[in-house]
Amino acid sequence: MHPRSLFPGSLTSLLASLLIMAAPPSTAGDIDFSQPQPGEALPGGAASHSKAHNRRAFSHPNGNMPFEQRLDFRVGNGVFKKIWVSSPSSTTANDGLGPLYNARSCARCHIGNGRGHPPKDSDDSAVSMFLRLSIPPQNAQQKQQLAAGRIGVIPEPTYGTQLQDTAVRGLKGEGRMQISYREISVALSEGESASLRVPQYSVGDLNYGPMHPQVMLSPRVTPAMIGLGLLEQIPARAIEAAADPEDDDGDGISGRPNRVWNPHSGQLELGRFGWKAGMPTLNQQNVSAFNGDIGISTPDIPRAAGDCTAQQSRCLQMPDGNSELHDGVEASRIMTDLLLLYTRNIAVPTRRKVKDPQVLAGKQAFYQAGCQQCHQPSFTTADNPDLPQLSRQKIWPYSDLLLHDMGEGLADNRPEFAASGREWRTPPLWGIGLTETVSGHSYYLHDGRARNLLEAMLWHGGEAEASKQAVITMPKADRQNLIRFLESL
Ligand code: HEC
Ligand code: HEC
Repeated sequence: MHPRSLFPGSLTSLLASLLIMAAPPSTAGDIDFSQPQPGEALPGGAASHSKAHNRRAFSHPNGNMPFEQRLDFRVGNGVFKKIWVSSPSSTTANDGLGPLYNARSCARCHIGNGRGHPPKDSDDSAVSMFLRLSIPPQNAQQKQQLAAGRIGVIPEPTYGTQLQDTAVRGLKGEGRMQISYREISVALSEGESASLRVPQYSVGDLNYGPMHPQVMLSPRVTPAMIGLGLLEQIPARAIEAAADPEDDDGDGISGRPNRVWNPHSGQLELGRFGWKAGMPTLNQQNVSAFNGDIGISTPDIPRAAGDCTAQQSRCLQMPDGNSELHDGVEASRIMTDLLLLYTRNIAVPTRRKVKDPQVLAGKQAFYQAGCQQCHQPSFTTADNPDLPQLSRQKIWPYSDLLLHDMGEGLADNRPEFAASGREWRTPPLWGIGLTETVSGHSYYLHDGRARNLLEAMLWHGGEAEASKQAVITMPKADRQNLIRFLESL
């Protein structure tokens, strides 16, 4: 029997928080919480931007980007905003949309490069959120395919790996994501309480017949697009060094790297991007988004019919936008290169109020609650002569980029490569305090179920259970300071 289960709940949590305080993880070191640490006001190092913290705060190029590249950044932004149209059209420059798609441009979902949100009511479209789909392996061959790691999931036989709710004229969208919520309440110290909404997902208006009975749905909201090039330049070994898959140090936290297939290098590599770290590189993420979200083919993924499956024969027969002018596909190599440059160089804003006593006290509460065990404060990026402005920067993403079991409450029960149905990648917290300013809402977590930062913390479970209990039991003033700290990131 696990010794802790001998104690009742509140005592267990008290012990858990005492344990954390007694043995601070090494990264806490001996931080002086009376003043900011050197460099922490610039989370992206010299690549941070110091422009206004307004609605456009996630739309600036890296502060140290050479002047000559800024034009390419703007053109890349143009590719990101480009509205695709269906084929055939009077121009071959923009056609190729779909046939099935979720949105007509990258920017339609990544609005202001900020985070998406669940539909506000049944009339609101789910444009900045979608459902990933798959099924468990059905036979030895599929088991073998998954074990070999070349594919991360077995697609739903008719609907593929993602629910596209829209289609070009003459074809039907696949169906509609439906969410219903029920509220549960959580008691906090000093007589406070919070209410969490527990979502339940289903798909309505299925236009291509019933789904497989074992279909697994994974809701995902659009993440913010800042600092991605810096995250890509963190040396894989620095991320892997923090992994502790068997929890050998016994702190209850066992970060694991995702291992995903990189078709470009032809090998399994560390996964970095997406809510389950299912993508190895920014280019792979970008071209997958082109194909799965908009239905656009690229030299890397030349499927003009996007996520249409063999069961969707009409979809496969629709005209495509492949053109000799674009390397025989719908978006040329030049376009994907510009998009790569753009997505690598969106700057992280400078922090606000780093010297504020409440913020500093909140930072201390963050360490005392053990948040930094997963939300690793800083890394130094690799030395890459091809990308000098992203090189050797001390950055403050507040993420270890590893997978953690977050408990049953957050589980989507849909594995993706090495990530289990309970694991999520620690999301970077940089810029999180500007969510309201940039995106006009404050919905957090992979499916936007949390309506504010406190709810986001209270959803933590699994490996983060002790951290959550620390938040529940800490004095109210500390909880408020902790939120001030998160708002300053
Ligand atoms: C329909 C909405 C939608 C569209 C259109 C879309 N995205 Fe995304 N994007 C998302 C969602 C949702 C995720 C999270 C995916 C996941 O976790 O698997 C994401 C993730 C990303 C990420 C990874 C960010 C991170 O923090 O890991 C990048 C980069 C990205 N998208 C780029 C693009 C580009 C480039 C395009 C256009 C070619 C695009 N997206 C189009 C919704 C969209
Ligand atoms: C065991 C690792 C772990 C610990 C410890 C942990 N977190 Fe997290 N955190 C995560 C993961 C993984 C997610 C994403 C979960 C999801 O989206 O379902 C997350 C999500 C969040 C989010 C929402 C981020 C977003 O982009 O929506 C916030 C805010 C956050 N954590 C703050 C904290 C704070 C504050 C603490 C300490 C009280 C803490 N976390 C402790 C792993 C951890």
